[in-house]
Amino acid sequence: MQRNINAESSEGKAAKNKCREKAKEGCGTDMKGAESVIDAMKPEDCCQVYEIEKICFPGTSWTLEDFQASLNVPEQYYAVARQGALILGFAALYMMADTADLVNIAVLPAYRGRGIGGRLMEALLRKATDARLCEITLEVRVSNKPAIHLYERFGFSQIAIRRKYYKSPVEDAGIMQRHFVYA
Ligand SMILES: CC(C)(COP(=O)(O)OP(=O)(O)OC[C@H]1O[C@@H](n2cnc3c(N)ncnc32)[C@H](O)[C@@H]1OP(=O)(O)O)[C@@H](O)C(=O)NCCC(=O)NCCS
Repeated sequence: MQRNINAESSEGKAAKNKCREKAKEGCGTDMKGAESVIDAMKPEDCCQVYEIEKICFPGTSWTLEDFQASLNVPEQYYAVARQGALILGFAALYMMADTADLVNIAVLPAYRGRGIGGRLMEALLRKATDARLCEITLEVRVSNKPAIHLYERFGFSQIAIRRKYYKSPVEDAGIMQRHFVYA
């Protein structure tokens, strides 16, 4: 993917600051039972999604431009959890022929444990079955119990371990997969 590190305009900086504020707004809020809708990511969602990526995966190599570019790639599908103007989480599928990688899923810390991750998973699985995919594969840190629990709940099981796959900190990855069978 293209990494764009060119100097940005003052409008660009202002827009990024606004997104950072929005993401912080989401971090500081504790709205039990808050309603959100699951929707496909739109261009105006990208900077909030990027802020969530940075909050949930400090040191990420993904850039805002990566998220923006993904909108032009038909093989990539991003679902977001939207509550008014606030994005609470996102999940991404990268489809290749009849298979896909679940590239990412993240929910703002203040909104976890309320089913948003599960609803994002449902959106990805719906996309997968609509596209008649045969399998989805993903990698997860072996210590990431909430994510592993979520994936197992949606029919994924571990098929392999990739030793020292992750850096900072170094950790093994569990490779998990789910198959789809069609009548
Ligand atoms: C994984 C993640 C997306 C889940 O989002 P969420 O909105 O909390 O998901 P849900 O509320 O739908 O479900 C969370 C499940 O994890 C369970 N859980 C929470 N903490 C847990 C723990 N320490 N061990 C096991 N299960 C745990 C919850 O009980 C719930 O399961 P249940 O519905 O069967 O009760 C969220 O934790 C997150 O953003 N994590 C940081 C980013 C990340 O690690 N992404 C995965 C990269 S591979």
